[in-house]
Order: sequence, then structure tokens, then C-alpha cells
Amino acid sequence: MCGIVGYIGNKRATSFLVDGLSKLEYRGYDSAGIAVEKDGKIEVVKHKGRLLNLSNDLEKNPVEGTIGIGHTRWATHGEPSDANSHPHRSSKGDITVVHNGIIENYLGLRKWLKEEGYEFLSQTDTEVIPNLIDFYYEGDLLKAVVKATEKLEGSYALGVICGDDPDKIVAVRKDSPLIIGLGKDETFIASDIPAVISYTRDIYLLEDNEFVLITREGAKVLNSDGENIDKEIYKVTWTAEAAEKGGFDSFMMKEIHEQPKAIRDTLTGKISADKKVVFEDFKLTKEQLEGIDKVYIVACGTAYHAGLIGKVAIEKFAKIPVDVDIASEFRYREPLVTNKTLVITVSQSGETADTLAVLRDSKKAGAKTLAITNVVGSTISREAEHVIYTMAGPEIAVASTKAYTTQVVVMNLIGMYFGQLKGTLTKEAEKELEDALLLIPEKIEELLANKEQIEEVAKILAKEKDVFFLGRGVDFALALEGSLKLKEITYIHSEAYAGGELKHGPIALIEKGTKVIALLTQTRLKEKMISNIVEVKARGAETIGLAYEGDEIDESVFNNIIRIPRILNMVAPVVAAVALQLLAYYTAKEKNFDIDKPRNLAKSVTVE
Ligand code: F6R
Repeated sequence: MCGIVGYIGNKRATSFLVDGLSKLEYRGYDSAGIAVEKDGKIEVVKHKGRLLNLSNDLEKNPVEGTIGIGHTRWATHGEPSDANSHPHRSSKGDITVVHNGIIENYLGLRKWLKEEGYEFLSQTDTEVIPNLIDFYYEGDLLKAVVKATEKLEGSYALGVICGDDPDKIVAVRKDSPLIIGLGKDETFIASDIPAVISYTRDIYLLEDNEFVLITREGAKVLNSDGENIDKEIYKVTWTAEAAEKGGFDSFMMKEIHEQPKAIRDTLTGKISADKKVVFEDFKLTKEQLEGIDKVYIVACGTAYHAGLIGKVAIEKFAKIPVDVDIASEFRYREPLVTNKTLVITVSQSGETADTLAVLRDSKKAGAKTLAITNVVGSTISREAEHVIYTMAGPEIAVASTKAYTTQVVVMNLIGMYFGQLKGTLTKEAEKELEDALLLIPEKIEELLANKEQIEEVAKILAKEKDVFFLGRGVDFALALEGSLKLKEITYIHSEAYAGGELKHGPIALIEKGTKVIALLTQTRLKEKMISNIVEVKARGAETIGLAYEGDEIDESVFNNIIRIPRILNMVAPVVAAVALQLLAYYTAKEKNFDIDKPRNLAKSVTVE
């Protein structure tokens, strides 16, 4: 998400800060800023928009000083604006902070700090941090940072400077990345190696709760008791380009691996201690929900596939009928939208032209509107009456991965929320679903640790012209997504069918050697799926199953089986989607295609 940099040395700090931030642009951002300390005075310059706005300003109005911190912000709390941009300064003193991560308990801290006389100028969660450090500050910045972090819940990587305790940067991380670059007579901090790679290849890779005191003498890594930690220097051997991708060969693979974190971040703060679903910006009463007589979920592409799972979740948990539609179809028919309709638009970018048009038309027709999007400040997020953000972080690869899985998680949460409001969800079902949602990141990690099995199957698919995906229930929605992923990046023609539809036509396409992928995560429907597979196998198909580890399956029916960790059926498509993303990825790699930028496709479709 956001990018952090920091510098102490003999050169003008802004040169590195701006250059380092430019190397972190790939992480996505909507504003940028720096803070530089000179002779105990801190100057902050920050601007909404491109980094160029900041660098142009700094060119016209140079900021002197050899110590500084910088930040590119990707909005999560509060829209992109100058005021919400980092660095943030304490209202009483001059403690100045850049932050990457999410502070979960910021509302409580903010309330308390206001009572202590601190003022807040932004809508961000971050602004509590400099004020909290200031609250504990007694002349030693490091000690104050240690005390402040004891009160923070959530994730953070921090760079902190203070005019009153000058000539140092204090840095710390917890669940957000931070590295220290060790140069000759200069030290750097950064969210990621690309920012420093042209200055130094000697790096400290920080672990959670390691504090760093950086002075002109170098960097000391300490624990929270102030004891030295003997840190090994990591020598970077990658190229700058590989470094941007975190050592992966493509953004898609990097983003596939980011899914456990993206899902944890998306779930953060959305389930209360008493197991109730809470959305910051979408609160209904039971009466309001009962006043809704129709729910539409409308989206394009991958987001539409997430919507299909949303329909199952809302109907299953809340017994409310839901229609799902493709935005470009919905807008040109005459949908029955009234002031009793809830229209849920799903869009990673928040800018897709057809989805936006549906939102606008629905508002005109008087409907309640809810947007699920990944980009704070996007047009759809601004225009919808309510928003739920997926916290996937910027998605760079054209083929959507982490945005999709976080959308499916949100869909389940909405179903759970409505079910809780209506009283249609039993306590057992509520607990089972909550436990399963929280377990997803771990299960994806298990799958990622075992991805070679998928590489083997990809070698088979890479030789094919046509592939078929079959599924039933939420596995049908998953089949559509798996098939789209494969088409997008491997250019292999692929189709997805509901298992029961085979006999109604598609089975005519099956001939000797046709590859058919059967999704078997829905236990209740497994035997039906196996019957479908037996039918295609009898006609010469070569079959690949996707099933739970340990699930008893007649292996003679399948030529290959991909195994995924066992999890509640309703959320299994999230874990299984990761397997299908990997399948598409390895197949495209086998064919030597440009995985991140497939032909003819754009990341954000802002025209019809
Ligand atoms: C496929 C993909 C697209 C998008 C679609 C909608 O991998 O990314 O199908 O899902 O273009 O985009 P958003 O979600 O930005 O509205």
C-alpha cells in the first residue's frame, strides 16, 4: 500500500526522499509528502496527486536539511487530500511521522487524545501516532515511540523525527514491511528494497517489534527494552526491476502471495468481539433491511464473479433474494429498480465505466446504493451512498487476484451481516462462518507452500487449445473465475459450465484428450460432480480434479488431482481461487507470455 522512505547523511535529504518515493510508485499512491529536519526545525511539504506535484514544489521551494522522512499514501482512512497526506505532525509538539499500515483502535485513541488536548487536522488513522508519541515524550524520542507502540493495535511501519530530539530517525515495524539501507556515511529507511537499491545493497530486513535508532553514526536495532539486536546484513543480489516485484518474477505472483495479508486486512475491524459484523460506512437497522424488497449485485468481469458468490451468501444466510448482473447488460435493460431496491456495485478500481453508470442510474431511480471497492477516493466510492473497502492494497497485474478474493470475503460478510440483522443466522452458523473466514489466510499460506503440484498440472494445460471448467453451487462461480484467469493470461480458449448443464449441449464438445477441470469443494454436490466427470471421461476427456486434502475420491476418475486445504464449503472458493490463479500463472509462464500485461487488456476500463 503506502510507501515510506527516510534518510540521514551528508546530502540534501529531499534528493533521496523524492527519488526513493519514485521507486515505490509501483505500490500505488494518491498523494506524497516529505518532512525534513534542520537545526531542530521540521518542515513538511505534501500534496495530493502525483509525486510530480511534490517534486515540482520542492524544485521551486527547496528544503534544506540532511535528515528527513517521506511517504506515498494510498488512502485507506479518509479520501486522498493534502490534509490526509503524510507526514503527520503532533498538534502540540513537532513529532512528525510517516506510517504504512492500519491502526485498528484509532477511534478510541483519537477520542482519548482529544480529551488530553490534542487537535486533529485529518481523517486518518495515522494522526493518532505523532500525538500519542508526543504524549509519552520526555526528551527521548526512542523511549516515547516504544511506549506509544504499546498502545497501538493493528499494523504499522513507522519513520519518526522530532525537532526537540534532533539528528535521528526512529523506525519500527509490526505487520508492515520496513527495511534499513546501510550506505557509506548515510542510512536509509524504506518500505521496500527498490527505493534504496541504487544507493546500497546492504540491508537490514526488520522483523516485527524491532526498533531502529538511526543517527549519523549508523543504525542500531533494538528490542523494546532498548537491548541491542545483532542483525545480519542481507546483501541484495537482485536487479532493481526484480526488487520492485519483491523477488517474484511478476506482480501477479507477488499479488497472489499477498492474499493472506490482504484478507487479514479486509477482515480487520469488521467482526466485533461479540461476533457481530460491523461496517464503518454501512449500517442498517432491522427495519431498514426489511424495507428492502430486492437486492441487485452489479459488476464486470472478475468482480461479477465475486457477485455470484455474494448472491449465494446473502440468500443462504439472510434469506433475501438477490439478482446478479453484468453492468453493461443491466444498464441497457429495464431493471426493476425502485426506492426499495439495494444496488451493490462491485469494482476493484472504482472507476469502471459500466459499473459507474449503473450506480448513477440506480441513484436516480431512488435505490439505496452500496459500493464494494478497493480504491479509496475512486469515483464509485465517492458517489455511492455507502462503501465497504476491500483492503487488498494496489493491484498492479492486469489479472485480478487479491482484489477478487477480498471481494468474496466481503460478500460473505454482507451475507452474515444481513443474516444477523434479520435473525436468520443461527449462533452455530455464525460461529462456523466467523471461524472459517478468520482461517482463510492460514489455509492460503498452506496452499502456497505446496504450489509445485499446480506447476505440474500447468505443464499439461500449456499444450492445450481448449479447456473446460465445471462446478456446481459456488464452485460454478469459481469455475467462471478460473476460466477467465486462464483465458486472460494464457490465451487458451476456456469455458466454464455448471456441472448439470453438460448434458444440455456442451458435452458435444468433449473428445479424446479434451482437458476438463472439475471443482469439488462443495461436499453436498461432490457425487453429482463425479457423475459429470465420469460422463466426460467416458467420452475420452482427460480430467483434473480440485479437491480437499484427504477427501476420498476415486482416483481412477481423474488423471490429476490438485489438493487444497480443507475449510468450510462456503468460503472454500477463496482458497480454491488461489489454486486456479496459480494454475493460470504457471501455464502462462510455461508459454513464456507477459503475465502482468496480457495482450488487449487494460487494468481499469474507464470507457464503455
Ligand atoms: C480480470 C479483471 C477484470 C476486472 C473488470 C472489472 O482479471 O481484472 O475482469 O474485474 O474489468 O474491473 P473493476 O473491478 O475495476 O471494476
